[in-house]
Amino acid sequence: MRTMTCIEDLRQTARRKVPRAFFEYAEAGAYAEETLRANRADLERIKLRQRILVNVASRSTKTAILGEPASLPLALAPVGLCGMQHGDGEILACRAAQQAGIPFCLSTMSICSIEDVAQSVDKPFWFQLYVMKDRGFARSLIERAAAAKCSALVLTVDLQVLGQRHRDIKNGMTVPPELRIKNLIDIATKPAWALSVLRGKRKTFGNIAGHISGMQNVNSLAQWISGQFDPALSWKDVEWIAGLWPGKLILKGILDVEDARIAAKTGAAALVVSNHGGRQLDGAPSSISALPPIVDALGADIEIMFDGGIRSGQDLFRALALGARACLSGRAYIYGLGAGGQAGVARAIEIIRNELDVTMALTGVSRIDEIDRHVIAAM
Ligand code: GLV
Repeated sequence: MRTMTCIEDLRQTARRKVPRAFFEYAEAGAYAEETLRANRADLERIKLRQRILVNVASRSTKTAILGEPASLPLALAPVGLCGMQHGDGEILACRAAQQAGIPFCLSTMSICSIEDVAQSVDKPFWFQLYVMKDRGFARSLIERAAAAKCSALVLTVDLQVLGQRHRDIKNGMTVPPELRIKNLIDIATKPAWALSVLRGKRKTFGNIAGHISGMQNVNSLAQWISGQFDPALSWKDVEWIAGLWPGKLILKGILDVEDARIAAKTGAAALVVSNHGGRQLDGAPSSISALPPIVDALGADIEIMFDGGIRSGQDLFRALALGARACLSGRAYIYGLGAGGQAGVARAIEIIRNELDVTMALTGVSRIDEIDRHVIAAM
């Protein structure tokens, strides 16, 4: 892992090791991927202000996220199908995050279940919820997350319908993999991946399979899931969830100031400015361009987090400079997971931490709470 010096190295390795359908599932954005590209391009456009001869001998990346100490202002974002990037991927990523002292968020669409992860790690993690049409099932997921002592519930609010990702359709992306000749040849060339997934606890959606009556077989499960995203979801449902969930609630997927105003009144502890990694509304603004107006309007009322394109400590620094209290990153650690399991995720976190630390030093900043708009170069 030492020779992996940046997230792009992990990405290139993951591309070689993970079957194409799953690697591209993580990579893809919606439709023409304009928003996916804008997330990165707009971050890269932000130039940092170099400061010299400031004493930065005692720096720290430590902070608090939702009032809990964290070793850096980063959480591992909820990503579906981690267990298809590497066998038991959710458990491995959660362990790496906990060892690094940052939060891990498990997706509803995970391979390992809430209970599998809870039994395999020693600290609480966050759980991300999709509210499905079957509200009884949504309620049971909330109860299971509470029973597993999850420390926050992250409600995804930008997935009324699923954005189309062309590559998933072209690759015949299914879980477990559809056994087309093309996929079989691909898997045959990735023996380490195949072994890890074969040895993994599960091969399908662990939070769902076996928890819905009559839903043992994989085809009917896939049909059930695709019919379950609920276009009728509304702020009333957020109230209902806030009433059921005893802990901290995070609303993820807000891009508009008007929506942020409503979110801040729900009693949620935090919101995440996010366009779902460019996977939902193609043509939406980049996440980073949506961040400052939301921070200006509501930063004093609710904890504002950010995701969308973070691939380095410099990116993390840019989002903090524009007012995010912490960031979530999905693809950066998914590449690590595909490249090297738990060690790969640990490496991804370490790379971002080191880059953040060096960026702080060269901008003359010693503490996370000193990072504000002054660190950005006038353009
Ligand atoms: C689901 O949330 C996805 O983006 O694939």
